[in-house]
Amino acid sequence: MAEYTPTPEAVLRTLDVNEHLADPSIKQAFVTPMFDIIAPRYDRFTRWFSFGMDATWKREAMDAVREAARRIRPVQRALDLATGTGDLAFALARLWPGVQVDALDASPRMIDQARQRLAVRDADVATAVTAMVGDMMALPQGDASVDVITASYAVRNVPDARGAVREMARVLRPGGVLVTLDFYKPAFAPWRALFLGYLQVAGDMVGYAWHRDPVVYGYIARSIAHFMTEAEFSELLNDEGFDVVSVQCYLFGGVGRHVARRR
Ligand SMILES: C[S@@+](CC[C@H](N)C(=O)[O-])C[C@H]1O[C@@H](n2cnc3c(N)ncnc32)[C@H](O)[C@@H]1O
Repeated sequence: MAEYTPTPEAVLRTLDVNEHLADPSIKQAFVTPMFDIIAPRYDRFTRWFSFGMDATWKREAMDAVREAARRIRPVQRALDLATGTGDLAFALARLWPGVQVDALDASPRMIDQARQRLAVRDADVATAVTAMVGDMMALPQGDASVDVITASYAVRNVPDARGAVREMARVLRPGGVLVTLDFYKPAFAPWRALFLGYLQVAGDMVGYAWHRDPVVYGYIARSIAHFMTEAEFSELLNDEGFDVVSVQCYLFGGVGRHVARRR
């Protein structure tokens, strides 16, 4: 896990985003302080920047979780990876009575935000959710100990996507359900150029306006450019022990939801 002093803002100013995205050995050292900076405004930014679509995608992801997990009776343990401020973790806790949900994230300030929500706005699920700082490439959960995993905008941000999927496969029990939501590189080149161009310009502008640092939101477009297509992610899931049950594309392949079952 990245360590930094004195503040995440000071650290980020000394780092080059493209260099860190291109090199897995240093990517996390950029990503964690960046999300620490964003954390207090993350919910507002996400709602605004996606024109409200994020809430719809997450609601549909939870419908997909409920449907795919029908065969698991009862769902006892669930895990939300890269939980951020906890949206999906709290939604999981509301799906099944008695379920215990681990909400894990690398950014301590994101976990602070999740805990503040559990103390006030989402207090109804406070006893069902444990918010924890952790690395999704080295999970603390035991082998085959989890029934359901969710991960939204998660895999794109880690240095080793394959390693993270391998960890999901390790902790998920056979027949367990994985639902992911993320940005992907659109396969159609002209749309890819337009999509990434818009995200980069808009992200840089909001980053400058809110944090005096364009890269904190301009990062989204840059990270997608270094990532994969939704079809390549399906292949990765298949390689690492999952059967892909369904793929739902949004924004012509710019966003995708995968539902998969552990073999
Ligand atoms: C774009 S946010 C997504 C938050 C939330 N899942 C949502 O959909 O609103 C990405 C999150 O990934 C987290 N993250 C980055 N690298 C991670 C890692 N190695 N392990 C766990 N979380 C990580 C960041 O700290 C950040 O909170």
